[in-house]
Amino acid sequence: MTTADALTLRNLTAGYNGIAAIRDVDLVVHAGELVTLLGPNGAGKTTTLLTVCGVVSPMHGEVLLGGQRVPAGRPHVLARRGLGHVPENRGLFFELTAAQNMRLATKSKVEVDRVLELFPALPALMGRRAGVLSGGEQQMLAIARALARRPRVLMVDELSLGLAPLVVQSLLASLRNAVDDDGIAVLLIEQHIELALGAADRAYVLNHGRIALEGSAESLKNERALIESSYLGDLDEVVS
Ligand SMILES: Nc1ncnc2c1ncn2[C@@H]1O[C@H](COP(=O)(O)OP(=O)(O)OP(=O)(O)O)[C@@H](O)[C@H]1O
Ligand SMILES: [Mg+2]
Repeated sequence: MTTADALTLRNLTAGYNGIAAIRDVDLVVHAGELVTLLGPNGAGKTTTLLTVCGVVSPMHGEVLLGGQRVPAGRPHVLARRGLGHVPENRGLFFELTAAQNMRLATKSKVEVDRVLELFPALPALMGRRAGVLSGGEQQMLAIARALARRPRVLMVDELSLGLAPLVVQSLLASLRNAVDDDGIAVLLIEQHIELALGAADRAYVLNHGRIALEGSAESLKNERALIESSYLGDLDEVVS
């Protein structure tokens, strides 16, 4: 028996005001897989995630969650169908404590305790307001809160924004554990190429809204020069 892909983007074109920011994107994340989406600023990474979660409507193509087409513009429906999303700005309620933020995700103390085991630094912070936590602590809380809902697919935008590499490494290790232990599918946007390829199973590189490179993280580690060229905007010259 073959299991359906957890998340499938098929020939997806989407953008703003009728202008495409991503074009013909084909991307798959399987259950139990951590996939990273790399690419320079403005490449279309966030747009890809926003299209999956229904904030941006596709102009063409489709998004399948667990093999089923998802309705556009209904983020709460997607959450019920197992899609978790940690947006670029983390989406925390700053005036509420970390514990209250967690409780908004789940009423179950068992679930909260289960997730807190993935983030050893978090239990001591539960009484503090989310707004006074450090950047890394906020990111931990945001990911923990998303995991507490037991998503089948979790998308994380800019995991490392403003964080020290050691913090990023520890967050990636926690995500990796969630993928390996619970078989969830993770799609991770990450600016730090090396750390991302170190944690991921596979990677896609977006450039000017199109998938420019894809492959196993292992194989892409050897394509470092090619990836960097794409970030500098001269991939076309390198490839041709
Ligand atoms: N709300 C918007 N309205 C119009 N254009 C937008 C909007 N959001 C993004 N864009 C444009 O769409 C393109 C892709 O942007 P996107 O935010 O997806 O890139 P990104 O890969 O996430 O970049 P970064 O690494 O800087 O976060 C860019 O050219 C950007 O200017
Ligand atoms: Mg972005």
